Amino acid sequence: FSLKAYNTFGVEAKAKYFVEVTTVEELKEAISFSNSQIPKTPVLFLGGGSNILFTKDFDGLAIKLNLTGISEQVINENEVWITAKAGENWHNFVMHCLDKNYGGLENLSLIPGNVGTSPMQNIGAYGTEIKDIFVSCKVLDLESLELKTFDLEECRFGYRDSIFKQEGKGKYVILEVTFKLTTKNHIIKTEYGAIKSELENLGIESPTIQDVSKAVINIRQSKLPDPKETGNAGSFFKNPTIPLAQFEKLKEKFENIQGYPNGNFVKVPAGWLIEQSGWKGKQIGNVASHKLQALVIINATGNATGKEVFEFSTEIINSVKEKYGIELEREVNII
Ligand code: EPU
Repeated sequence: FSLKAYNTFGVEAKAKYFVEVTTVEELKEAISFSNSQIPKTPVLFLGGGSNILFTKDFDGLAIKLNLTGISEQVINENEVWITAKAGENWHNFVMHCLDKNYGGLENLSLIPGNVGTSPMQNIGAYGTEIKDIFVSCKVLDLESLELKTFDLEECRFGYRDSIFKQEGKGKYVILEVTFKLTTKNHIIKTEYGAIKSELENLGIESPTIQDVSKAVINIRQSKLPDPKETGNAGSFFKNPTIPLAQFEKLKEKFENIQGYPNGNFVKVPAGWLIEQSGWKGKQIGNVASHKLQALVIINATGNATGKEVFEFSTEIINSVKEKYGIELEREVNII
């Protein structure tokens, strides 16, 4: 079964088995099937396919999660808890909340992918991460097939990180996520520089949550490639965090280096490192670094293989390492 339409990089890869599920019962059936094989058939869950790179065929059962539905619970006059099932498209969900004038998700507008995968890597953009508005998520334990709930603390969110990428890796599938949103006194977050200047461009002085969303959409559309047109998976690498002392040393040699200090560490924008290493807009074969945002690797011709993309990313890692002594870490899941 071809997975080409199920990954936003648009690379070809085949799964031995494939099934789409719309209910928890169907999902359990699919997992029981794989658990009953000897040896067990490996399973792979597909959400929006926006953070995955296939470098080879998958010799197992790919399960596309199509559980949908949104429900809400009023907590008090300024707070509502809203629960979305895993298969809801992230951006549609954000728009649904903004239509109802619920605040908290606006900075996360236009992020590709589905609700169910948002906790995996604690998706974040423009000054907000989902941990800021997260209440809990309901998961299915793949071994026992029992339902469990993880609250904020149990998810152990970090920068592009959670328990689901660490100890919990491969043990659970996320079924639904609950967020706490504001209904009246919204917290407007415009500290991220690009939002401020975009709001100025739009001539907006006291922005609403809908205005913030509009600004974020404009910024994203102006520099991130639309996966429907050009295959990509957003940022390919994480922004590396290095010790302050190492940063200061680098600053002596590269005085323009950018960094966001955080205690004794500094987060350095990988996009800057990649651009300065000469990769921005560069194409090798079918793969390129995006001309407007070097951190995004694109399937430039539409004919790239996952292997080619992976090799391209290895070359970037090597040249940034050579020039700056910093080892970039891939953010995209490699299969
Ligand atoms: N930069 C360059 N050259 C480039 C790209 C960036 O010099 O080609 C510099 C910019 O000048 C800027 C800095 O790097 O000062 C940061 O750039 P940007 O604001 O575009 O954000 P980013 O750090 O590259 C991160 C997230 C994005 C998220 C944006 C906005 C990671 C790995 N990426 O990118 O998330 O949208 O911030 O908050 O943290 C994603 O995860 O897929 C993603 C797109």
